[in-house]
Amino acid sequence: MIIRPSLPTDAPGISRVLTALTAAGLRVSPSDTDFALNNYIENPNGIECSVATDPEGSILGFQALLMAVEGNHYGVTPGWGIIGTHIHPEAIRQGIGGKLFIATRSAALKANLKFIDATIQNYNTGGLAYYESVGFRTYETNEDAIRKVFDLS
Ligand SMILES: CC(C)(COP(=O)(O)OP(=O)(O)OC[C@H]1O[C@@H](n2cnc3c(N)ncnc32)[C@H](O)[C@@H]1OP(=O)(O)O)[C@@H](O)C(=O)NCCC(=O)NCCS
Repeated sequence: MIIRPSLPTDAPGISRVLTALTAAGLRVSPSDTDFALNNYIENPNGIECSVATDPEGSILGFQALLMAVEGNHYGVTPGWGIIGTHIHPEAIRQGIGGKLFIATRSAALKANLKFIDATIQNYNTGGLAYYESVGFRTYETNEDAIRKVFDLS
């Protein structure tokens, strides 16, 4: 497996991962190529978007780190990072998420972030277990979601 920063040409591959997650009932947000490009690869508040590929270059998953700006629609404290992780359903539980976080953590340190937020729907047991396993801890819960934070200090 190869982990590397994403490129604009990865948009179709990222879109395929998102579409497969939607088909598996693990996603409800948009999955098209433009969404992949604008929301992850070329997000103006993006700090890093890393992809994991197989040796032939097919995208198995990706992880995006954004800067929380004033008024962000996730309600995350400005100045914190915001993380999102998406692994193709056929590639989950193979350690890809864990490897992606090594790259993301390093990008977060380079960007001088102090905290990273992960907001996970409370029924998403896999997502909750994953973020807990890489070191995130719960700091807030509400009706729909559990918010976890990774402390970089
Ligand atoms: C959640 C997700 C990102 C995890 O990625 P992954 O590559 O499968 O995770 P890893 O294989 O690196 O798992 C690392 C550890 O996390 C925990 N974990 C991950 N998925 C789990 C699951 N479904 N159930 C229980 N524990 C889980 C385990 O402790 C695992 O270690 P182990 O396999 O040695 O026991 C992936 O399943 C996914 O993309 N899900 C759909 C999208 C999503 O929900 N994203 C998160 C919210 S943005």
